[in-house]
Amino acid sequence: MKKCIIILTVAFIATALYAQQAPQLSKDNISEVVKAMTLEEKARLLVGGGYDSLTIIGGKPVRDTKYVPGAAGVTVSFSRLGIPNTMMVDGPAGVHIDAHREGENRTYHATGFPVASCLACTWNTALVEEVGRAMGNEAKEYGCDVILGPGMNIHRNPLCGRNFEYFSEDPFITGEMGTAMVNGIQSQGIGVSAKHYAVNSQEADRERVDEQVSDRALREIYLRGFERMVRHSHPWTIMAAYNRVNGVYAQSSRYLLTDILRNEWGFDGIVMTDWIGVRKDLPIEEEIHAGDDLMMPGRAAQITNIINAVNEGRLAIEDVDLSVTRMLNYIVKTQNYKGYHPSNNPDLQAHAAITRQSATEGMVLLKNNGVLPLSVGESCDTVALFGVCSYDFLSGGVGSGCVEVPYVVDMLTGLKNSGIATTKQLTDIYTRYVDYAKVKLQADKNPYMWFLDQGQPKLDEIEVSDRCINHEVQSADMAIITIGRQAGESIDRTVDNDFNLSEQERSLINRVSDAFHSAGKPVVVIINSGSVIETVSWRDRADAILLAWQPGEEGGNSVADVLTGKANPSGRLAMTWPISVYDHWSTQNFPQDKDMDMYTYKRFECWGRQIKNVDYTKHEEGIYVGYRYFDTYNKPTAYPFGYGLSYTRFEYSKPSVKLKGDNVEVSVTVTNVGQRAGKEVVQVYVNAPKGGLDKPNKELRAFAKTASLQPGEKEVVTMTIPRSDLASYDETQKAWVVAEGQYTFYTSASINDVRFTNTLNIK
Ligand code: BGC
Repeated sequence: MKKCIIILTVAFIATALYAQQAPQLSKDNISEVVKAMTLEEKARLLVGGGYDSLTIIGGKPVRDTKYVPGAAGVTVSFSRLGIPNTMMVDGPAGVHIDAHREGENRTYHATGFPVASCLACTWNTALVEEVGRAMGNEAKEYGCDVILGPGMNIHRNPLCGRNFEYFSEDPFITGEMGTAMVNGIQSQGIGVSAKHYAVNSQEADRERVDEQVSDRALREIYLRGFERMVRHSHPWTIMAAYNRVNGVYAQSSRYLLTDILRNEWGFDGIVMTDWIGVRKDLPIEEEIHAGDDLMMPGRAAQITNIINAVNEGRLAIEDVDLSVTRMLNYIVKTQNYKGYHPSNNPDLQAHAAITRQSATEGMVLLKNNGVLPLSVGESCDTVALFGVCSYDFLSGGVGSGCVEVPYVVDMLTGLKNSGIATTKQLTDIYTRYVDYAKVKLQADKNPYMWFLDQGQPKLDEIEVSDRCINHEVQSADMAIITIGRQAGESIDRTVDNDFNLSEQERSLINRVSDAFHSAGKPVVVIINSGSVIETVSWRDRADAILLAWQPGEEGGNSVADVLTGKANPSGRLAMTWPISVYDHWSTQNFPQDKDMDMYTYKRFECWGRQIKNVDYTKHEEGIYVGYRYFDTYNKPTAYPFGYGLSYTRFEYSKPSVKLKGDNVEVSVTVTNVGQRAGKEVVQVYVNAPKGGLDKPNKELRAFAKTASLQPGEKEVVTMTIPRSDLASYDETQKAWVVAEGQYTFYTSASINDVRFTNTLNIK
């Protein structure tokens, strides 16, 4: 017994001495800590504490007690060195953690904010920053350190399954929105992981596909938004994309991660992988040497691989130390390191008000023949509310980007809160069906479709009979039909079921509009989708169309605010709405994953061609993505980039466009000449001289949103365009070049609605 006590005491003293000798991490002694770390500790730090690389205690992997249930990933802790673990949480539309914890009665809901495609359509960077602040605050109060977002990929094609998580088809607005979001989140002492760097433009075969893109398109379209955001907001972390770019996995591309991101743009944070684990075809030394610092979510094998690579001389210890140093610099910034005690009680009510307002600003009024805003209590008392999504409104997308929200305000509730009743019979039919369908959905869960299980799936539509519609015409003042679309990670959208309307939806719109119109009653369509859909074949049937997106948990209230005129719509499209999906040049090279699921790579059909797997996607359209294509090649659209209606009208004064030092300054007075208060979005597109390069007809180079202007009120809007922003990427010179000559500045209300044209010679 005595002997045993002596041994234990000696062991205890030895451990204490060992720990005492080790420096404790602080922002001033990082190099000392790196020196004190063993190779194994270093390797462990570069591998997330995910699936099976957790701290080993008594031979068993143990999850740190601080782990936040539902968080996406964690970095490991080393008590010997005073290094805590840090917590990473999805995602772009709110903090994605589990709302329920075992053995606890309380809930941990997070606010569901509008999806990124909706936020971008606000064109309001101050508002997006406010959303970021609220999101950052929730992450902090729930004990997290990094939000895995914003999503900054480009909407190359409307069929990409994750477009709702990304802002726009245009890199300038993407960069501006990304900057605002990152500044907002990071103002709370919470980091971001802007993702997915780079060219993650499709979900089909996303973990392997080689995105083959010219250097010019890479720079001008796919990287420029990231560049703007990195330069203007200094994100703590960047997430590398799953896919390959021109033959090299993004996570192991030294060109992307070191040459461009760090050396050119000055990024000084950490790069982490997307959630992939071990790649059999990618030696770990290539990743670390490329500038990737953190393997997520982390596999034990990766730790061994790093150790072996160093011991066998394949990986320089200097490369490891560089990544370890970056990791420690990141860790000292985190709340977990600073010892913050999260309240677990963020102010969800205050954040609900933010999401309600930001959603109304992102909604885009596509059509209005004068029926909106509704005169509640006068011409509009009772509405016949059609469409399953009216009753099961989609607040956000599915997959990692979903949020476990406390509630979703559906259209029924939103209208009711605004004093608008709905007809009893139809409401009863739909609400009963929705209750039933939700129960059925739970029972039919497909275990392989885990990503669809995260978030709110879309329920199937129901057949509404003519008799029922005719009955509704008698009892309602008007009809509202909600058309919903759900999308998410791992699956792209299809032409037939996602982009186009189904026969059932078409028939519903036709029959409802015939019946209501013949009784002289209007029909309004609400689009509840995070992505673009077809509208031209049916839009004549509707008196008004409101694009509500997936606007977050307050969705029904936000829609009602716009319908009733409480909020004057000021959203403008941040992506082209084409007539047909085939009108996009990129559709020719967008794999359509009709019969693919994530686990079985079956056959793909791409424009009639059968392709086995998606080994590569050729970006034949180059820089002609979105409006750059439609505008340059004079292709008609359903609704052009920058488009959106208002309940009022704005007049622009003749703008002044002049050079001020190294900047072009565009200044214009906007006057509200209508009858209602409202906000206007001024957009400046530029036509640049060719300078030996093929150039798009116009490119968005500046925008500004006015404050809410009362009827008759004016605002002077001044926008600054740094001369360097006018540059195009010249592949032969491998440089950004501002061509000398005459530039045309279009001060516009949308890409097709040019109000004034000015020219300026630039050297
Ligand atoms: C997604 C990322 C996400 C990560 C963690 C991946 O599948 O691509 O966007 O942040 O999972 O949930």
